[in-house]
Amino acid sequence: FPYECLQPFRLSVSTLQSVSTRLKKDMIRGLGKHTHHRAPVKMLPTFVRATPDGTEKGDFLALDLGGTNFRVLHVRILEDEQRVVKMDSQICAIPQEIMLGHGEKLFDHIAACLAEFLDSHELKGQTLPLGFTFSFPCEQLDIDKSVLIRWTKGFNCSGVEGEDVVRLLREAIHRRGDYDIGSVAMVNDTVGTMMSCGYRDQSCEIGMIIGTGTNACYMEEMRNVKRVEGEDGRMCINTEWGGFGDDGSLRDIQTDFDLVVDKTSLNPGIHTYEKMISGMYLGEIARLVLVKLTEDKLLFDGQVSDALQTPGRFETRFISEIEDTGLENTQRILTELDLNWSLGDVRLVWLVCDTISTRSAQLCAAALATIANRIRNNRGLDHLKTTVGVDGTVFKKHPNFSQQLQATVRLLAPRCDITFLVSEDGSGKGAAMVTAVAQRLALQPVVFEKLLLEAWGPFDLLVALW
Ligand code: BGC
Repeated sequence: FPYECLQPFRLSVSTLQSVSTRLKKDMIRGLGKHTHHRAPVKMLPTFVRATPDGTEKGDFLALDLGGTNFRVLHVRILEDEQRVVKMDSQICAIPQEIMLGHGEKLFDHIAACLAEFLDSHELKGQTLPLGFTFSFPCEQLDIDKSVLIRWTKGFNCSGVEGEDVVRLLREAIHRRGDYDIGSVAMVNDTVGTMMSCGYRDQSCEIGMIIGTGTNACYMEEMRNVKRVEGEDGRMCINTEWGGFGDDGSLRDIQTDFDLVVDKTSLNPGIHTYEKMISGMYLGEIARLVLVKLTEDKLLFDGQVSDALQTPGRFETRFISEIEDTGLENTQRILTELDLNWSLGDVRLVWLVCDTISTRSAQLCAAALATIANRIRNNRGLDHLKTTVGVDGTVFKKHPNFSQQLQATVRLLAPRCDITFLVSEDGSGKGAAMVTAVAQRLALQPVVFEKLLLEAWGPFDLLVALW
């Protein structure tokens, strides 16, 4: 292979198997009562004990914070048609200074966007229940109490880590005093995705995101969730697999480029795995490789442009565009970056993008295979048939990411038959769904859960209990 600096990105099947074995051990550490606090893969209990039963209904608000944008949605669940309908939604940009400023400002901004939405849709007089998809690692204490462990992706607001995010939201709304919200349910985007896909396909018991960040949740046996009382049934666990490798366990597969990306990020040493996989970082890895190849005189006649020297200028979406059919996209992008390209350069740039996105898909597959194999073992099954609800721009927009991922999962989890269900608006609709189920259950006596589990078994029912 002629390009030495691309070599470390190529992972053999046995390396991927070894990555999967390491993750399997870390997942067990994350679940353990006494090993959890030092575990890099947090395995956070979500208190969702199964997935909707079809009797949910009503109007809900959903907030979705986690990527570059913040969204407000008005969602209606139609019981008769068994459908979740997005009535309206609005996107609010979050300016960089807010993403990096004081937490109070962030929540004031969120409360202001919500106020504007309620105003323009004439919903201010109603006190609707609200599902809050907050896509960061949180220690969930109750359905409406969730403490941020740490910021990830592009956020770094002061005064939020270690605090209850629902309280911060309510306080911001009270500071305004012009409207109120009803009960709140907090969800991670992976859980929202699993729950909204679960309404369509009842065997959906894994939720996965490959977008700005990456993560997955799945249904774990209660007997293995050592930090929560009880042995019966299952609970959805938010793995936070992005943190895999934070204890140095992946040092052998990190390339020099990964180390630079980590060091220059907002959160060095945190979310090692995410930084090798997700959309926030892939473009920057590619840029660093392109600069290196140019410095080695293998690209652009050895001439690096100012644009290519600028961190963040080579966006992750360029990778998807470059790998899409034809070479025109690549030529346009290179021209926009003030690079003097030849046809040979265009082909090499394609190879760089392909190498980086392939590694991302394979690593993601290794993690997903670990989860699927775990579910199969948990249930003592020879063969597992299951569905994964998926969302995220990298998975949805990249031309062959999904095929690469599926092919690798088949190699690493040969006895699991996995269906991929792409979620539309999953985190928003899922948050509404969790809120709906929580509301319904709040009106029912506790024995209800037990009776239903005994009557039908946990998985015929899709019930979220908090
Ligand atoms: C966060 C997760 C989230 C994932 C995908 C990660 O950075 O820690 O909570 O699910 O991004 O949005």
